[in-house]
Amino acid sequence: MRARPGKDRKAVVGRLRIGDHWNAITIIALSQSNPLKAIAEFVENSIDARARNVSITRGREHGHHYLAIRDDGEGVPRDTDGKPDFRYVATHIGDSIKRRLRAEGAAGLQGEFGIGLLSFWTVGEVLTMTSTDNEQRAWQMTMCKGDPAYAVAPKRSLFEDRGTELHIAPLLDGVKALSGEKIQWYLASELRDRMRESGVRVTVVDRVARKQYTVEPRKYAGQLLHQLPPLRARLGDVYAELYLNPAADTNRVGLFRRGTRVLEDLAQLEDFARPPWTTGCLQGHLDAPFVNLTPGTRSGLILDDAYGAFRDACQPLEAELVAIIDAQRRAEEEQASRELLRTIQRAFREALLALPPEEYDWFDIQVRSQRAQPPRSTSRTAAPDQAASPRCPASANRRPGARRSGSSSSSPALCSVCRSRRRRARCRSVHAASSGRCPAIDRAAASRSRSSSSGRCSRAAAHSSVQPTRS
Ligand SMILES: Nc1ncnc2c1ncn2[C@@H]1O[C@H](COP(=O)(O)OP(=O)(O)OP(=O)(O)O)[C@@H](O)[C@H]1O
Ligand SMILES: [Mg+2]
Repeated sequence: MRARPGKDRKAVVGRLRIGDHWNAITIIALSQSNPLKAIAEFVENSIDARARNVSITRGREHGHHYLAIRDDGEGVPRDTDGKPDFRYVATHIGDSIKRRLRAEGAAGLQGEFGIGLLSFWTVGEVLTMTSTDNEQRAWQMTMCKGDPAYAVAPKRSLFEDRGTELHIAPLLDGVKALSGEKIQWYLASELRDRMRESGVRVTVVDRVARKQYTVEPRKYAGQLLHQLPPLRARLGDVYAELYLNPAADTNRVGLFRRGTRVLEDLAQLEDFARPPWTTGCLQGHLDAPFVNLTPGTRSGLILDDAYGAFRDACQPLEAELVAIIDAQRRAEEEQASRELLRTIQRAFREALLALPPEEYDWFDIQVRSQRAQPPRSTSRTAAPDQAASPRCPASANRRPGARRSGSSSSSPALCSVCRSRRRRARCRSVHAASSGRCPAIDRAAASRSRSSSSGRCSRAAAHSSVQPTRS
């Protein structure tokens, strides 16, 4: 420790150092709280090693549950003797070789912290990592949770000549129940774009449930929004893939970084807890390759300059999306009112066809179009207003504004048959006894020839069929 030159002479300066290395490693190893995310980390390592195929096996052997991740990638980087350099992996925690490789221009690498492998502590007790040397002999490194030692030895059993295998057993109590199906669903979303870009094929073999799954990168639902404003930030471009949907709680926009999901819901961030992100009308994600992650969980962002640049770049997009969602809402509301109107009209029509028309035909606006149109025959003898009206003869007899009640005296020519079905029987006897005929019944008889093809309302048809026998 030394005094800061030229400033406060009493101040002392120094460099931070880790006091207890093993304790620091323990904290790092336990900082990943999500075992699914840890599994995604292992698959990311396989993709970084340019694997074409990755298989994740969940099984049980010697009375213990295990998880194995096998890939056909380039294998663990080799040392000067051509052997997998496990010593480097075990002794460079927090110092990823990939960061150096990326600085030298290597593309397609996601690893950067050098701690992902340690997250096996949140999955199981013992990690065995196997890879081959230049002469295709297999070597394996073993690490145990809570133990600072590691061991490297030749592997006795058969191993394919390429790639790497991680074997974790026994699994922690809460991880045993992690089904292959659950792993598959998680990876389909978590590594969606990494899988699409690298073309890797990931399969999950669940030996416990005797099932096998192929992980298909998640497909979003809804209408893809094209021609969104480009998102240009100071530190690079943000890529947006968004789909418009009817509002639902399950619709979310995620945040990705270089193809890997960071946040399931962008609205978890305070700056994004507002429309359009909270409307539930959008599915998809934004990918900001330059944002900085919280290394332990990798499901959080450092709210630094890079984050600020990302947030600012999103503002024009937000305005545009709000406008699109508003337009969709309006269209949906109009459609809903049109449908409601149609439903009400349909209900009225059905009611009017089932009910005595003379008591309800003041709803006559729509029912006419439902009742079949009688042909405008030249032989028709009805009055001109009837000729224009497709209603049944009974209801056609109404004068506009006349009272519709059966007991009305304003329509003296109308018989009680036409007023109420309940009175039909009485009316029949009245007609049978009297010499006069009801004008409506006359009209019904006159148009009887039309009735078979006209599809008139059942009420008129009833008159027509009753009258001849009675007159
Ligand atoms: N499937 C694999 N194939 C080849 N090498 C691997 C594989 N898994 C791990 N490694 C080696 O082990 C090292 C440590 O992996 P680890 O995931 O801890 O760190 P990282 O990938 O470099 O960085 P990060 O912590 O950001 O993931 C890797 O840098 C890589 O060299
Ligand atoms: Mg890694």
